[in-house]
Amino acid sequence: MTDQPQRITLRRPDDWHLHLRTGAMLKAVLPHSAAQLGRAIVMPNLAPPVVDTARAEIYRDEILAALPAGSHFRPLMTAYLTDGTDADDIEAGHAKGVFTAVKLYPAHATTNSAHGVTDFDKVAPVLDRMAKIGMPLLVHGEVTDQSVDIFDREAVFIDTVLPKLMGRHPDLKIVLEHITTEEGVAVVRQHGPGGKLAATITAHHLMINRSSIFVGGIRPHLYCLPIAKREKHRLALRAAATSGEPWFFFGTDSAPHPIGAKESACGCAGIYTAATAVELYAQVFDEEGALDKLEAFASLNGPAFYGLPVNESFITLEKSGLIVPDVLDVGGNIAVLPFRSGERLDWRLV
Ligand code: NCD
Ligand code: ZN
Repeated sequence: MTDQPQRITLRRPDDWHLHLRTGAMLKAVLPHSAAQLGRAIVMPNLAPPVVDTARAEIYRDEILAALPAGSHFRPLMTAYLTDGTDADDIEAGHAKGVFTAVKLYPAHATTNSAHGVTDFDKVAPVLDRMAKIGMPLLVHGEVTDQSVDIFDREAVFIDTVLPKLMGRHPDLKIVLEHITTEEGVAVVRQHGPGGKLAATITAHHLMINRSSIFVGGIRPHLYCLPIAKREKHRLALRAAATSGEPWFFFGTDSAPHPIGAKESACGCAGIYTAATAVELYAQVFDEEGALDKLEAFASLNGPAFYGLPVNESFITLEKSGLIVPDVLDVGGNIAVLPFRSGERLDWRLV
């Protein structure tokens, strides 16, 4: 008699922070997320960025057209907040079901963020309107002052910018995206119970620390923003994600770049995890003895914060092992290296 591998079934997860890109890259990466997830919050940092309803409808239609036949995956679109964003357009796009949320990149914080916000006074009317209609603001929480150490930019944002933002817009729902620090965990725990602050946590920030980027040489494929921090922060993130607390949820920040753009004298920030997103999180939750909390993190907490229903369908994971693909071929001599490429993960989707 052979032992059956261990299995778990959970409600289908959603990805509350995903970069899908456009064109050939979109076509190459979308099937992975569509196979695993019910919905994803789609980041608007294209070049040029998705700044208004008209542009978001075009991008949404491009995503829908690129979906594999029979897929039920739904892209949830976001607007890229700029100093010039029109509150009426955001409200109209939200009412029409085009926009789910608005993304705030402090100008120059990360990839394609040159159009980001330079002045919080200018965006105050948009944020007031969003608070009024219950539309969440998704924040890239790093200061951009180059004199602030790169490993401190999130903590300084939480200390200096976030309290002002929350103080000025107390009714605004805010998601602190891809938190990487114990300061991020603490501020979300402090304000989470008030229902206005939550956070996404990526799979890679649960798995790597800043030393991982330099093991035996420089590892450009582990470079992302916010950059991975010290081990104590990774441990704080793991405790938060696996706690079951409702203000922490699944958001991969999967951000594909061509291998040539990563392995370069000035490599791009971004880690591609979407090919095995659910399996990566399952690995972490299993290691922490918290598989019973995976469904809350992956499938329940996000919809609850966004005020959306949970997915109707379910997924099953089996502890029979999976080898992460070596490379993802995008076509046209372009390829992407997945996180943990060629390595074995314990869980796989059945
Ligand atoms: C993202 C990208 O490549 O679009 N990169 C990243 O390192 N996370 C941008 C972002 O979300 O910061
Ligand atoms: Zn991102």
